[in-house]
Amino acid sequence: MSHASSRIALITGGARGIGAAITARLSHDGWRVVIADRERPQHPPAGTRALLCDVSDEASVNGLIDGIRRQEGRLDVLVCNAGISVHKPIAALSLAEWSGVIGTNLTATFLLVRAAEGLLRAAKGAVVTIASTRARMSEANSEPYAASKGGLVALTHALAISLAPDVRVNCISPGWIHTRGDPPRPADHAFHPAGRVGVPDDVAALTAFLAGPESGFITGAEFIVDGGVTRKMIYPD
Ligand SMILES: NC(=O)c1ccc[n+]([C@@H]2O[C@H](COP(=O)([O-])OP(=O)(O)OC[C@H]3O[C@@H](n4cnc5c(N)ncnc54)[C@H](O)[C@@H]3O)[C@@H](O)[C@H]2O)c1
Repeated sequence: MSHASSRIALITGGARGIGAAITARLSHDGWRVVIADRERPQHPPAGTRALLCDVSDEASVNGLIDGIRRQEGRLDVLVCNAGISVHKPIAALSLAEWSGVIGTNLTATFLLVRAAEGLLRAAKGAVVTIASTRARMSEANSEPYAASKGGLVALTHALAISLAPDVRVNCISPGWIHTRGDPPRPADHAFHPAGRVGVPDDVAALTAFLAGPESGFITGAEFIVDGGVTRKMIYPD
């Protein structure tokens, strides 16, 4: 594939974790990837363009998409992956903390799609949002994260209808994906019906499928990638 004709994917939060795995997978598959992150990636794949951007900031997002329009001239796939969480009792949670999580995890997808709609429609492209199983189940003290991800699941199907038939919009809701820190314990793996905790490549593989033509009949869908945990009945000992 020539450089000029190759497809362009924009991955938010691509500097590390799940976003870095999606970047590596799509690059390997022949996509030209633009990373938008508030941090610089450590080891981006060759050919990747990495841009500093706060996806919760309107001017920053508009500048990002304007730059892609000028430099790449097209946008085929948008992966809305950047995300943060704040875990605090609600009494201790400030409005700024609440708004920060909603801004990064939910409002960013509105800003990105609004700015990129023309490019995505022209490319007959696809959007993949990364939500969470926490859209549907909770630990204590996770209100802003749960609300943002529940909103993102709903925003995904709303966009799928509004952008049809030009752009397909789908959502991946990961469960426990190990990205850093201490490795999961044997009991953590055994808790999962799939027999293990997830890895970033589990999400990257599905993203690659949803970005490509083989998923052409799939839009407005949510895919749970959690090793079966949200299907597991749990009783007290
Ligand atoms: N790891 C998991 O177990 C898990 C489970 C369910 C859902 N998720 C979701 O998957 C996505 C990726 O998670 P991860 O574990 O790789 O997280 P991570 O913290 O390792 O990486 C997130 C990336 O997003 C970037 N980012 C954060 N705020 C940003 C902003 N305002 N603008 C631009 N970039 C920003 C960070 O710099 C970082 O590179 C998130 O949306 C997260 O909520 C993760």
